[in-house]
Amino acid sequence: MKKEVVLSGIRPTGFVHLGNYFGAVRNWANMQKEYDCYFCVVDWHSLTTHPDTRELRQHVHRLLSELIASGLDPEQCVLYIQSDVPEIAELYLYLNMMAYKGELEKTTTFKDKARSQPDNINAGLLTYPVLQTADILIHRATNVPVGKDQEQHLEMARNFADRFNHRYGDVFPLPKAFNYGKDLIKIMSLDGSGKMSKSENQMNTLYLADDDDLLRKKIMKAKTDGGPTEANSIKPEYIQNLFGLMQLVSHADVIAKFEADFNNCVIRYGDMKKQLAEDMVNFISPIREKAKAIENDKDYLSKVIKQGRDKARASAAATIQLVRNAVGVNY
Ligand code: TYM
Repeated sequence: MKKEVVLSGIRPTGFVHLGNYFGAVRNWANMQKEYDCYFCVVDWHSLTTHPDTRELRQHVHRLLSELIASGLDPEQCVLYIQSDVPEIAELYLYLNMMAYKGELEKTTTFKDKARSQPDNINAGLLTYPVLQTADILIHRATNVPVGKDQEQHLEMARNFADRFNHRYGDVFPLPKAFNYGKDLIKIMSLDGSGKMSKSENQMNTLYLADDDDLLRKKIMKAKTDGGPTEANSIKPEYIQNLFGLMQLVSHADVIAKFEADFNNCVIRYGDMKKQLAEDMVNFISPIREKAKAIENDKDYLSKVIKQGRDKARASAAATIQLVRNAVGVNY
């Protein structure tokens, strides 16, 4: 039986952080065997914020290394770079005719970016969700493993695909955000004030590249308070957040002990953070070291990039043929 197609993407705009890992990449690694998986480093998307492109090559190499170190197997999934697949740009063009100015302007990520970079509200930023839709539809993917912050983009992708099908005939299955049937994940920053993100204060974000001491330092600085004064109180968000991180990397009995201490008002947050820091170090350091080794092996990375490009282009070319036929640009 044909496996369902999966696609997801990540921007090469900074180091991979815990939000990327637990929101998305962990699922990518888990899905490789069961699904027909495409994972894409979306370098074109990163240009919308005008980064220094002299660093792009290094960022892309590092990101690929971090993804492989996190469990992606380039033999089992198609791991590739967006700009290696020009068919995506062609599909983006057709889809742009399906997307309306009003809905694009209302997109949360567009409004946030327009606020944070008022001198650079370019058309690429406005049509960012359309390019993302092209990334997904170019492989006619149905499952898109992403974190909670991408929910709105996925709804837009469904709408654009549906509109295309209505206008030109059924070409695309409708894609959906995927987390094994569970709610999408949102990892909060260490001060609990918002989601962990590449542009947040770096001391509030845990990166897979952080060394052990930096991880410890960041976790020990995380916000706490004097502890609960009433048994079984509701946890403030910043405390819930520390428990949330423990859920990701600590053993069940360790978590149960601190839960009980909290409920009995005897919790010592210093001890909890020390434990969390050690568990986090044990989790992250092997990934970090593996990523460093891969990044230094340029021959291996070139092989991965070429292999990904060839497989992704074959799939993309087949879709573009269907699209051209459906639209009527086949002379
Ligand atoms: P990006 O590069 O910002 O993030 C990559 C993935 O990490 C998830 N993520 C989080 N999950 C939980 N908690 C957080 N704090 C957190 N921060 C990031 C994101 O949800 C994402 O899954 N627009 C996308 C990239 C993209 C894409 C695509 C994704 C381009 N084309 C096609 C899916 C399909 C983005 O900027 O992700």
